[in-house]
Amino acid sequence: LSGGKTPIALYTLLAKAPFVSQIPWSHVHLFWGDERCVPPDHGDSNYRMTREFLLDHVPIPPANVHRMPGEMDPVEAAARYEKQLRDFFAPHGEALPVFDFILLGLGEDGHTASLFPGTRAIRESASWVVGHHVDAQKGWRITLTPPVINAARTVVFIAAGAGKAAVLKKILEGPFRPDTLPAQIVRPAGGTLLWMLDRKAAAQLKGEA
Ligand code: 6PG
Repeated sequence: LSGGKTPIALYTLLAKAPFVSQIPWSHVHLFWGDERCVPPDHGDSNYRMTREFLLDHVPIPPANVHRMPGEMDPVEAAARYEKQLRDFFAPHGEALPVFDFILLGLGEDGHTASLFPGTRAIRESASWVVGHHVDAQKGWRITLTPPVINAARTVVFIAAGAGKAAVLKKILEGPFRPDTLPAQIVRPAGGTLLWMLDRKAAAQLKGEA
């Protein structure tokens, strides 16, 4: 799952009829794409946002909710989450965790998850999860890395509002510059990539709005 504010509308929809009864919650396992390094009840926590708008309203077994431990030391938290992913996915023997579905948001600076412009995490090729200080955010973040995101079966970006229009045009119609526009590093090798945009966010794109 993505953090930030855009998913709130989606999580709210999923938490009520008709969708809430259409999802086999006992068969769903939720992980996060990134987390701020704050306690789970902190106002900045992606887990807290998801709990408020989704988890508190759906019958998902608590054991199926795998939050990133934002309250821990970031490097230790990343290592622990990676181990959790390896334990969860390893029985299937894949070299990388193959998520059925990864939901990503998009920052106005082109970041996604907590892959921010100019950070080494964009080019990480070995670790599945990293904990790093993001100067632009004046804080520490935990994030999945591109190899994990790009191994997914389906990756969906959601972006809404006029504030995302300029960066979407650069990402989708400009040159490939992932160190500046990290969202461009998301190119699922064997999976599907979808962009779900509202009209304001898509306003500057040449394609069909
Ligand atoms: C986070 C998110 C981040 C988010 C973008 C967009 O932890 O902030 O995971 O990648 O998706 O910053 O945020 P908004 O949806 O609030 O615009």
